[in-house]
Amino acid sequence: TDSHGHGPFIAAIDQGTTSSRCIVFDRDGRIVSVDQKEHEQIFPKPGWVEHDAAEIWRNVQEVVAGAVEKAGITAADVKAIGITNQRETTLMWDKNTGEPVHNAIVWQDTRTDGLCKELGRNVGQDRFRRETGLPLASYFSGPKVRWLLDNVEGLRERAERGDILFGTMDSWVIWNLTGGVDGGVHVTDVTNASRTMLMNLRSLAWDERILSSMEIPAAVLPEIRSSAEVYGTAKGGALAGVPVASALGDQQAALFGQTCFDQGEAKSTYGTGTFMLMNTGDEPVQSYNGLLTTVGYRIGDQKPVYALEGSIAVTGSLVQWMRDQMGLIKSAAEIETLASSVEDNGGAYFVPAFSGLFAPYWRSDARGVIAGLTRYVTKAHIARAVLEATAWQTREITDAMTKDSGVELTALKVDGGMTSNNLLMQTLSDFLDAPVVRPMVAETTCLGAAYAAGLAVGFWPDTDALRANWRRAAEWTPRMDADTRDREYKSWLKAVERTMGWIE
Ligand code: G3P
Repeated sequence: TDSHGHGPFIAAIDQGTTSSRCIVFDRDGRIVSVDQKEHEQIFPKPGWVEHDAAEIWRNVQEVVAGAVEKAGITAADVKAIGITNQRETTLMWDKNTGEPVHNAIVWQDTRTDGLCKELGRNVGQDRFRRETGLPLASYFSGPKVRWLLDNVEGLRERAERGDILFGTMDSWVIWNLTGGVDGGVHVTDVTNASRTMLMNLRSLAWDERILSSMEIPAAVLPEIRSSAEVYGTAKGGALAGVPVASALGDQQAALFGQTCFDQGEAKSTYGTGTFMLMNTGDEPVQSYNGLLTTVGYRIGDQKPVYALEGSIAVTGSLVQWMRDQMGLIKSAAEIETLASSVEDNGGAYFVPAFSGLFAPYWRSDARGVIAGLTRYVTKAHIARAVLEATAWQTREITDAMTKDSGVELTALKVDGGMTSNNLLMQTLSDFLDAPVVRPMVAETTCLGAAYAAGLAVGFWPDTDALRANWRRAAEWTPRMDADTRDREYKSWLKAVERTMGWIE
């Protein structure tokens, strides 16, 4: 509409698992322009997943330039840049040259299985849970840092000398944006830091006892800052001179973009993986049902807001796998057409434990299975089982949320790429036995980063102004009878059991 032509604007950069994108938003939180670029997924061995961080930084610069050009604006029209990112993915680089010392180790990577088991020996998986809110699992950054220090030749000495920086992708993007070797700032925000397993949830500082147990030198660590404040100014590029004013892990950004500002509000984002977060207010809530305790966001020097999280490693990436590795579909959208060509799953259940099982099980020893196969099953049934896997995994998470919080789910706010799949959204509502609601702007991850940056520079006055932008676009309501749901859930849970203990 015509209001798009008149700035000012906020630009958000989302450095995600499979692509980087930049979205320009106007004051109503509407999308003005988008640019996006995929990067290579590197699979050196079974269970290993890496990214080339130099490629990612090139792509980020390109999509920023692309989005600015498509919007027909200049840096002068942009009041702030917000950053959001795939979380936990771990990078170390040389601060004198700006060169990564190794590919980034992606959150899905399971190479630290053994290390995590060793760290938990005699004490168990919950050794650092009280401090960090997280179980020992290959998902988190700390053990990945330790792996790099142990496996890249000479790295530990260089790190101890102070030449090496560690960061999740927020840190890498901000350091490069603000000048890199030429004065780049080395920071992270509380939400990203809460996924390293190295930060204490209450003090919001690096935990010295954990650092020493994991043998990680403090010299490599970024400074922990809030999620909404000016960290520095972009040097060079299409947005030179614009303040970099927010950073949030992508799931926390989506929580923010969905305006879940009140205790008890929750959202679920359907991307590469699926992540449900519930705002629990200004106190961290310990989970007894396999969820994570994490920082939701912190605006400037206000109190931090905490969240409970249910993380599912493989959802959208299963559809990608069907396309790229299996060749059963040509485009991701085709999964819906194929799955819709049959009435049901034909008895097949697909548990995509490719990175082990995340919430609520946290089993690194699990690997994927397709169960219930007979000669009857076609690729259409498998496509259906693929979509059902996402819905059942969400059900497991909402069950855990209900147990931990005592709050019954009345409706689920959803967002992310997979929410354009109507069959999936209907199945989700059926399996949860609750309405599923999608907002007008499904790009809540970028929107959340833009909101936080806009708050930091006074572009928006407060969170109430943001809430006013939230609009319902679609809703699905349950149609499945209770007997079918219960029977199917039982079969799903039986299939889940089959995945466990695959890795010795
Ligand atoms: O914890 C991993 C998560 O942040 C990745 O999100 O959207 O890139 O799959 P996404």
